[in-house]
Amino acid sequence: ERDLLKSLPLRGKKILITAGPTYEAIDPVRFIGNHSSGKMGYAIAEASADLGAEVVLVSGPVALHTEHSLIKTVRVTSAHEMYDAVHQYFNECNIAILSAAVADFRPVEVADQKIKKKEDTLVLKLEKTQDILASLGAIKKKQYLVGFALETENELENAKTKLKKKNLDLIVLNSLNDPGAGFKTNTNKVTLITKGNKVLPFQVKSKKKVAIDILEHIIQELHA
Ligand code: CTP
Ligand code: CA
Repeated sequence: ERDLLKSLPLRGKKILITAGPTYEAIDPVRFIGNHSSGKMGYAIAEASADLGAEVVLVSGPVALHTEHSLIKTVRVTSAHEMYDAVHQYFNECNIAILSAAVADFRPVEVADQKIKKKEDTLVLKLEKTQDILASLGAIKKKQYLVGFALETENELENAKTKLKKKNLDLIVLNSLNDPGAGFKTNTNKVTLITKGNKVLPFQVKSKKKVAIDILEHIIQELHA
C-alpha cells in the first residue's frame, strides 16, 4: 500500500467515477431515491487521486464532499443528469468506475404542483431510466470499464451476467447479505469478477481499503 502511494501508479490516467444515489422527482417536493451514502465511490475517488490519477467524480445527492486537488466533482440529481455528465467526460477517460446506485425507474410524469392527498390511493407510473453503465459498454474504445453489482440472491451468477451484458472489464460484487457490507456502513465485503471469469473474494474491510484493492487489481491488469 505504501509503495504504491510512493510510485503514483495512476499518474497520467484520467478516471471517471460515479457515486451516490440518484433522486427522481415525483413533484416539486418529493422524489424516489435510495439509501446509498456515496462512501464507496468517494473512497475510490480519493484513493485514485492519492495514486496520482486525475479524477472526475460525478456525484448524486450525498452528504459527503472532497477537497482533493486532483478531483473535480460534478454534482447531479437525477439519473438523466448523471447520464449526461458521464457522457461528457467518458471519451477522454482511461478508466471508468460506476459505483452509483442509479434509480432504475423514474416517474413518467412529474407533477408541477405538490400532489394533494385527496384520494385514498395513489398510483405512480414509472418508466425505466437509461442504464448509464451499459451505454458506456456499448461505446467504449480503450477505456477500462468497471461496474458494481448489488445482489441479494444468485450473486455470482447475476454479477457475471451483468459483466457480460454490459461489456465490462471488471465487476465488483457487493452482497447485501454480508454483515459488514452495505450502503451506510464504513466497511464493505466485495468479490471482484474479471472479464476472464476469475473470481476474487476479499475480506470485510474499510471502504478505503476496498477502494485500494479494486485499484490495485486494475493497475495489475493494465500492466499485464
Ligand atoms: N447502473 C447504471 N445506470 C442505471 C442502473 C445501474 O449505470 N440506470 C450501474 C450501477 O452504477 C452499477 C451497475 O450498473 O455499476 C449495476 O447496477 P445494479 O443495480 O446492480 O444492476 P442493474 O443493471 O440496475 O440490474 P438490477 O437492479 O435489475 O439487478
Ligand atoms: Ca439497479
